[in-house]
Amino acid sequence: MNKQDLINKIILKKEFSQLPKKDVELAFEHFNKEGYVDEEKIKFTRNLLRKVFSAFTSQKILSLKDKSPEWILKKHLSTRERLNFYEEIYKRIFNGLSKKLSIIDLGSGINGFSYRYFKEIKYDMDYVGVESMGQLVNLTNNYFKKEKINGKAIHLSLFELEKIKKSIKKTEKPRIIFLFKTIDSLEMLERDYSKKLILEIAPLAERIVISFATESMITRKKFKVKRNWIINFLKENFEILDDFELGGERYIVFNK
Ligand SMILES: C[S@@+](CC[C@H](N)C(=O)[O-])C[C@H]1O[C@@H](n2cnc3c(N)ncnc32)[C@H](O)[C@@H]1O
Repeated sequence: MNKQDLINKIILKKEFSQLPKKDVELAFEHFNKEGYVDEEKIKFTRNLLRKVFSAFTSQKILSLKDKSPEWILKKHLSTRERLNFYEEIYKRIFNGLSKKLSIIDLGSGINGFSYRYFKEIKYDMDYVGVESMGQLVNLTNNYFKKEKINGKAIHLSLFELEKIKKSIKKTEKPRIIFLFKTIDSLEMLERDYSKKLILEIAPLAERIVISFATESMITRKKFKVKRNWIINFLKENFEILDDFELGGERYIVFNK
């Protein structure tokens, strides 16, 4: 089979059917090599795509509508962990910024469902989520529409750097960019891409916040993963404003 036929076959699985072409191709290239037969190319690409995109999402999210934001937030591994801490986290990362901000949430998953916590702490936010899983984009946009929330989710790969920058520039200043629990996903598809992305988008924002899990989202065991590569990179290139751990997640707040 040629490359396009193989890719078409890979995305026959519903969970991958709405992924941007760019992401699927990047995953495919890891296995589009000698030594892999077609069946393996398909199987291994799907395994990788699952790790990067769909492993955090309960299948229930993808099919049910009209559930409360809390119900939805509990059905995604990343947001479930954060549910009890949202107010505290948002207060802390916005500290010192104006009460009206644009948030650009990169690899947003269903984090848009936490919008009401901005209101609870009296911030007036313009929210833009960027996400590859089309199903999560639709879910978020339906919720925003129903609740008349000042926000939208965009269906775009974070590997489409120029389009990402364009989308950020369209938002009003001052801006804060989130990269919550997304760096590992980017690195799985292209090593060191997170650094490139951060360097390119940092000049566009007042502040950036990255986070990563310090415990396994499934077993709650502390990870042994060394994060020094990214921490050292941030220290060398940016001013670190805050660095804290809450609910099994470490947040690093920085700017130019
Ligand atoms: C672990 S989840 C975190 C979700 C959200 N940031 C949070 O912390 O609640 C990672 C998310 O990033 C998305 N993602 C991964 N790689 C991406 C890419 N290249 N472009 C856009 N979204 C991506 C995945 O689909 C998934 O929703």
